[in-house]
Amino acid sequence: ETATAKPALSIHLCAPRGFCAGVDRAIQIVELALEKYGSPVYVRHEIVHNKFVVDGLKAKGAVFVEELEEIPAEHTDRPVVFSAHGVPKAVPQDAQTRKMFYLDATCPLVSKVHKEAVIHFRRDREILLIGHAGHPEVIGTMGQLPEGTVTLIETEEDARAYTPKTGRTLAYITQTTLSVDDTAGIVAVLQERFPEIVAPHKEDICYATTNRQEAVKHVAPRVEAMIVVGAPNSSNSQRLREVAERAGCRTAVLIQRASDIDWQDFEGIRSLGLTAGASAPETLVEEIIDAFADRFDVTVETVRTAEETISFNLPRELRDMLSQAQ
Ligand code: F3S
Repeated sequence: ETATAKPALSIHLCAPRGFCAGVDRAIQIVELALEKYGSPVYVRHEIVHNKFVVDGLKAKGAVFVEELEEIPAEHTDRPVVFSAHGVPKAVPQDAQTRKMFYLDATCPLVSKVHKEAVIHFRRDREILLIGHAGHPEVIGTMGQLPEGTVTLIETEEDARAYTPKTGRTLAYITQTTLSVDDTAGIVAVLQERFPEIVAPHKEDICYATTNRQEAVKHVAPRVEAMIVVGAPNSSNSQRLREVAERAGCRTAVLIQRASDIDWQDFEGIRSLGLTAGASAPETLVEEIIDAFADRFDVTVETVRTAEETISFNLPRELRDMLSQAQ
C-alpha cells in the first residue's frame, strides 16, 4: 500500500477566477440568439478568447468569421454578434449599410472606455491609449475615432519617448485587461512628464482583471507552481501568468486544458496554485484538478480575496428570452 501511495499535493484554488460578467453575457447572447433565431448565427471574431467555448457554440450552430464580408450574401438576413472585445465604429456602420441585424456583445466595461475616448475627442484632448498592439479590444477602442487620433502606448519606454503632437490637453485611457502593476508604472511616467494629463474617473482596467490578479498575488508566494487556465491569445490570462511568475512561482504556466500539462514541470511539488482567465470555463479547471488527482493525493482549498456580484443586462432584443427561460 505505502509503495503505491500517491504524493500529497495541496491545491490552492484562486477565487475569483474564470468567467467575468462580460464573458458570461457574451456567451449568453450567442446562445439566446441561436434559440430565438435558429442557426446559423454569425459571430464576428471569437466571441471570447477560448477555443472550448467557441467549439461549443459552433456545435450549436454559431459560425465564426473575422470580418462581415465573409458572411455569404444569402445569409445577410441572419443575426451577427460582435465579440466581447468590442469593434471599431466602422463595423456596426458597415452592418447597417448591408442591412444586417446585429447584436453587440461588447462588454459594457469596454463600451465605457469607448465613451471616454469620444468625450476626450469632443473636448479637443490629445488621447493616449495604454494597451497591447493588435489586440482586438485595442483595435476596437482606437477605431471609435478617426485614424491617427489615438496614440498607443505599450510600455514605460513608450511613455518616456512620447512627444505630444499638439499643444492640447492630454488624456489617457487603457485596455481593460492589462497588468495592474505595469499600467501603474506607465501612468506614473506619464503623470511625471505631463502633470496635467487627464485620467479616467474610475480605473479602465476592469474589476475582473483586478480581482483575478489580486488573487494570484495572494496565492503565488504560498505555492511552488501556478497553473493559469486560458488561451494564449487571452490578454488577461497572459497577465495572470506573469503576475504568478513575478510573485516568485518557480513554475507558472498558461495552459488551455488538462491534456496540455507537461508533467515534468510538476514533479516533486507539494503545493500548486490554480486559476483561470476571464474567458476560461470552470469545467476546464475541474478537468485539471482531476488530472492531478490521478497522480497525487490532492487536497483542494479555495483562497478567496474578493466577492463578485456584478452582472450585465442583455441587449433589448434578447431580454424576452430570459424571462421565458426563468
Ligand atoms: Fe468585461 Fe473585464 Fe470581462 S472588460 S469582458 S468584465 S475581463
